[in-house]
Amino acid sequence: MLRHSRIEDILEIVIENPPVNALGASVRRALFDAIDQAEKDALVRVLLIRGGGKLFSAGADISEFDRPEEEPGLSTLVDRIEDCAKPVVAVLHGQCLGGGLEVAMGCHFRIAASSTRLALPEVTLGLLPGAGGTQRLPRLVGAAAAVNMIATGAAITAQEAQASGLIDRLVDDAEFAAAALDYARTLVAPRRTRDLPVVTTADEVDAHVAANARKFGGLEAHKACIEAVKAATCQLFAQGLALEKSLFEKLVKSDQARALQHAFFAERRAATIADLPRDTAKRPIAQIGVIGAGTMGTGIAVNFLLAGLPVTLVEKGASALQRGVDTIARTFASGVAKGKMTADQEQRANSLLAPTIAFDDLSGSDLIIEAVFEDMTIKKEIFSTLDRIAKPGAILASNTSFLDINEMAGVTKRPEDVVGLHFFSPANIMKLVEVIQGARTGQDVLATCMGLAKRIGKAPVLSGVCYGFIGNRMLLPRLDQARQLLLEGATIAQIDAVSTRLGLPIGPLQMIDLAGVDIGWHRDPTRIDNLNDALCAKGRLGQKSGSGYYDYDERRRPVSSPEVDAIVQQFRADAGIVPRAISDDEIMVRTVYIMINEAALILEEGIAQRASDIDTVWMLGFGWPRWTGGPLWWATQTGIGSIIDGLERHRDHFGPFFAVAESLKKGSSRYQPFYPA
Ligand code: 3HC
Repeated sequence: MLRHSRIEDILEIVIENPPVNALGASVRRALFDAIDQAEKDALVRVLLIRGGGKLFSAGADISEFDRPEEEPGLSTLVDRIEDCAKPVVAVLHGQCLGGGLEVAMGCHFRIAASSTRLALPEVTLGLLPGAGGTQRLPRLVGAAAAVNMIATGAAITAQEAQASGLIDRLVDDAEFAAAALDYARTLVAPRRTRDLPVVTTADEVDAHVAANARKFGGLEAHKACIEAVKAATCQLFAQGLALEKSLFEKLVKSDQARALQHAFFAERRAATIADLPRDTAKRPIAQIGVIGAGTMGTGIAVNFLLAGLPVTLVEKGASALQRGVDTIARTFASGVAKGKMTADQEQRANSLLAPTIAFDDLSGSDLIIEAVFEDMTIKKEIFSTLDRIAKPGAILASNTSFLDINEMAGVTKRPEDVVGLHFFSPANIMKLVEVIQGARTGQDVLATCMGLAKRIGKAPVLSGVCYGFIGNRMLLPRLDQARQLLLEGATIAQIDAVSTRLGLPIGPLQMIDLAGVDIGWHRDPTRIDNLNDALCAKGRLGQKSGSGYYDYDERRRPVSSPEVDAIVQQFRADAGIVPRAISDDEIMVRTVYIMINEAALILEEGIAQRASDIDTVWMLGFGWPRWTGGPLWWATQTGIGSIIDGLERHRDHFGPFFAVAESLKKGSSRYQPFYPA
């Protein structure tokens, strides 16, 4: 847990709790005792606290939050450090997060390696810093800067930390341990953060929050963070600390915090494959091939280029290829303009791109991803070409959103090399990648793809083969029901509002507009089989054409459309549908509960490894609100019983083949939750 060593009269205490030096109960106890002993030890004059491995500390052990806190609590430990009669220095490197930063602020001095990043990300877990962070940070950096960090969870660099007064010394990464010793030698007496004045007023905090309202969310935790920082501006340290403690205790038991912590672990669990041996060898990946220079292909290429991997980009024709190259260059240029990358990084990323119209140029690639039109005939042609030209051991991947990977693998003589890598649009921004395991996909291929996805900053989730995999399979019945509800009498705004009230960024009809009303359209404006056909016939192809189920203003905001109302009425009349009043309850059941049922089937069929993977797919791929923990966490909290009751209540609307998933009903209690209580 801890390593101690004494150099002259300086005691160095190193936290050794891999992988992230979380400050669990045993680390806290050991640190507490170490301070006690060092204080009594006449040979020790100054203490240094450092993290072993790649970071200082990721903060409190999040997995302990669902249990009563063991003594000493983190707050007690930080107070103990601050009360130490001898100078204590925090020596920071890598990451210094949450309770880790609170420990550092309890120390009397802080020195950091120049690549250190510091943050109080508790708010992203539905909490506020609960070990004095809301009271000490304002004393070090002022309350406006403190509320910025605490209520957004945003990280700052070591340079920013030094400029703001959060750290005292900044040193080169290579020298930080030695520099810390030199620094320690100069220190004479402790300096307690709690004794510093807060110079900012509560009004200034309010003004800062009002001026930057878009940065601050509206969750319970955001409000609590702001309240606690404001307390630091006008109350005594002890009072502020007491308020922080009571807010923390309330938050830690809240539904939002539990859901956000579930989301944290769900995302990390999703990156692992349950029955894959940990030591499965990964294939070396140094060169990427991407087929198709459209929106998906270029977005996919950008990820690899940014990660420093060379990409061969193939298109059929020179002009389509050039358009793709231009799109990629524009993406990097806008990254520079927004300050997200430097001109050097831009130049390097562009230089790693090799555009070509010659398929054979893919022969040196270790991983080739096709991102062409969703048509099985075309995909099969591509896979048989790849089988011919790709080097032995190359991974052959499809970015298909729906189609059968096994069919593609079937045209090759190396089905074990074939896998699905389903990126979500815009592929350079969305974190989710579904890794699709075909019937014969090799374990080493899966291990390589999961690792590679992480290497390019994505969150991989394993899925089996079915139409639409995890995410889109759940989406389809939702969209079908939304269109059906519209025909039966609900309004567009009413249908979408049920989802946005739940916290989803857009409703199902806005989603159709975003994806394109013309997906799967036969392109014959005289043939109207469904509502989408009727809209496409009028040129309403979705957001990209400026109109779909909604009109869109110049800022792409949806506005209801009298033309669509007329189209819907006409369609109803032609189909002999008499509209009826439809309740929000019915919309909820038919557009949201139906997804829960589909998810249960996905689990029954073994398409997803675990319920939390489904939550991850929807949180990262479709904007399901994290503070409800994903659809299945939400369903469990809502009560599977009421989900089943809702589905039964409206079962006649789902057609004759509808059945409530057996796994939902399983067990003696009739209702099977996705998560244990
Ligand atoms: N507590 C418990 N486990 C943690 C943890 C934490 N604070 N932080 C990370 N882990 C675990 C992960 O679950 C993962 O476990 P696994 O290997 O079993 O899946 C493992 O550590 C490695 O984590 P990552 O996969 O995320 O590793 P990365 O290298 O990609 O990222 C990190 C490292 C940047 C430190 C990232 O893990 C992170 O952001 N951690 C959370 C930081 C945080 O939110 N801290 C605040 C905690 S709350 C707090 O301190 C309350 C206090 O105010 C009282």
